[in-house]
Amino acid sequence: MVYLHAIDENYMAHHEIHTAIRQHLNTLYEKPFSLMDLGCGDANFTSKSLKPTLIKTYTGIDESAEALQLAQKNLDQAGIKSRLIQGDHTTFCSLIGDEKFRVIIIGFSLYLLPREEKIRFFKDCRKHLRKKGRVLVYDVVRRHHEERDDYLKRYYEHAAENWPTLNSTALRQLAEHINMSDHPESLESLTDIARQAGFKHAELLYVDASGFHQLIEFVQ
Ligand SMILES: C[S@@+](CC[C@H](N)C(=O)[O-])C[C@H]1O[C@@H](n2cnc3c(N)ncnc32)[C@H](O)[C@@H]1O
Repeated sequence: MVYLHAIDENYMAHHEIHTAIRQHLNTLYEKPFSLMDLGCGDANFTSKSLKPTLIKTYTGIDESAEALQLAQKNLDQAGIKSRLIQGDHTTFCSLIGDEKFRVIIIGFSLYLLPREEKIRFFKDCRKHLRKKGRVLVYDVVRRHHEERDDYLKRYYEHAAENWPTLNSTALRQLAEHINMSDHPESLESLTDIARQAGFKHAELLYVDASGFHQLIEFVQ
């Protein structure tokens, strides 16, 4: 699968993004806090980047049972107390009752949602955030005012030029995936969406050299 290969080769800056998450959360919090990871996948990076003693509970939601099995293993190995839920993260409110979290993370999953659903997503996050809570989004990001088609062309060209271990079949699969699934926002439009949902502050915490892969924090 192209995504797993891109992770192995660090093409999407997972290492740097998770280093930034670790440093940021370790600086902010001294006491253990609860965290929810939406579209957590196998939690391979989050399990390694979070300090186990700082995590009260890690709640991970993903639609893939296979990914959650791996996530359980990774989190257990890291000594992080976890609760994993198989389900659709676009309706995560129905999966977690009235529970609130200090931190909500969504990594390389928000880009899948159309704009209207992103607004709903941020509104739902506000309902489930504790006071002074924050949402950390790491995702693919397009340029300000860039048309989706131009973004798709640019992303494909970036991968074709800079991801040397992808053969032509993998590149074709990447093209199919992004054409079908990618609805990335620009930093400006994401900030605007979050503001509409009631988030007052947005801060760019990391952006890689390509500009495509960013970590952004939203605070109420
Ligand atoms: C690109 S992976 C990202 C995984 C992980 N967050 C990371 O940073 O590597 C996207 C993950 O989101 C999950 N996913 C996509 N849409 C989902 C949905 N609507 N509900 C729950 N999980 C979803 C997929 O199963 C996959 O594990």
